[in-house]
Order: sequence, then C-alpha cells, then structure tokens
Amino acid sequence: MIDVHCHLNFKTFADDYDVVIKRALAKGVTRIINVGTSLESSEWAVKLAGQYDELYAIVGIHPHHADKVQHDWIGKLEKIASQPKVIAIGEIGMDFYEYKSNGIVDPKRQEEVFVEQIKLAHKLNLPLQIHNRHAGEKVIEILLSHKSHLLNPPGMFHCFAATKEVLKSALQMGFAIGFDGNVTYSGLARGETVSLPDLAREVPLDRIVTETDSPYLTPLPYRGSRNEPSYVIITAEFIAKLRGISFEEFEAQTDKNTHAIFPKLR
Ligand code: NI
Repeated sequence: MIDVHCHLNFKTFADDYDVVIKRALAKGVTRIINVGTSLESSEWAVKLAGQYDELYAIVGIHPHHADKVQHDWIGKLEKIASQPKVIAIGEIGMDFYEYKSNGIVDPKRQEEVFVEQIKLAHKLNLPLQIHNRHAGEKVIEILLSHKSHLLNPPGMFHCFAATKEVLKSALQMGFAIGFDGNVTYSGLARGETVSLPDLAREVPLDRIVTETDSPYLTPLPYRGSRNEPSYVIITAEFIAKLRGISFEEFEAQTDKNTHAIFPKLR
C-alpha cells in the first residue's frame, strides 16, 4: 500500500515522525510520499526522503501560498525539484475556498504560479500532483491550455472532489485520481455536489490511487485525531469494499497505478 500524498514535513510531526513512519511501515505501507506546499516544506520533504529508503518527495507551491512567493522562487524550486528522490511537482493548482486565515488568494496570481510550475515540471520531465478546491473547471481549463506541457501520463489529481464533468475531463487527459480518508465520511462536504463514494465508484480501477493528506482528513473511526500514513489502509479497505473487490486486489492495482504515474518511484 502506498500513501501518495501526506505531510510528515509539517510541524505537527516534528517530534515524532520517526515513530509515525515506522508504524506505517509495520502495518504494510511500503512507500510514503511527502508533499511540499511552500519552498520550506518542500525542502523538508526532500530531507525526510533522504533519511528513509521508503520515503519520496513531491515539491511545489500550493495555490493558497501563491501570494507569498518572492523573487526567484521558481529558480529555488527548480533546485529543490532536481533532487533524485523528487518524483513530481505538487501540490499545485487552484483553490477558490474561502480560508479563515487569508480568504481567497488573488486568482490571477494563483494561475501564474500554477502555470510557472506546469512549465517547470515539463522542463524537468516530472508529472504533476494537482490540488483543486472548488476550482475544478478552472483547473481543467488551465491544464487544457497547456496540454503541450503535460507528460504521458500527466500525473494525478490529489484529494479529488469535483463534479462528474470535471472528473471526466481529468480522466480524458490521462490523469489518475487520488482519494483520502474523507471518502469514509457520510454526506456532502460544503460546496460540493457529488459524494466522494459516488466519484470513487466512477474512476476506472487502473486510475485510482490512495492517500491520507496527513495530518488532515482522518478516516472514520479516527476522525477528529491527527491523520497518519498507516491509516491509508483504512481508506483502501473502504474503497475496495465500495468497488466490490478484495483489499489485496485493490492494493496490487493501486501500487501499479502509482508506479505508472511516478516513473522515478522505486
Ligand atoms: Ni495536502
């Protein structure tokens, strides 16, 4: 089982990431991919990957931080992204969710930062790990207008939530789709119109991947506590059941999918 998207590079894991990693490996998680959201957290993701054979890094500027980047950020990111255990550029994309801390970052700035990183990924021959929150149509529009910069396969949408039309477009472009612990929650998240289980049923089996987004989106029955990579197994069990296949079959398929998306993953 692989956790294709988590943040052990965040402060909340500073004191016990080693325990958390060992617990995940003991439970059968074979690869853990830490994702940056800023230059600092990207650097830390790469450092962690250097400490454990099973860890890899994805680096990039999250749209929510698009207003904080400074002079030559893209040059600095290129340096970080050129490390051997960096397997993709992410999490990058668009986010129109109104955050309590700083609302919505100027959409024009978000788009500029997104597009710069699509071009960087192309230059470095790396796939994309896409973040979309309440901006599905815009993300698709931007990706379509930069089609020539996408690899084949182009990468994945992380923590998918959108309409079925957006899902269809993402699949048509060749993207894989990641689901997290929130697939186990009942009802609809605020601002969404299709339930996550409904979306998880629609994705072809050879395009699904599993992730935790730790420390966020803890699956039931642990919702309310800090999420961690070992819980990716709970999400996988839930989706396997939803799809009417065994956990073993689902695990083998998602591992295969992950390696297809990220050729640098060993
Ligand atoms: Ni994340």
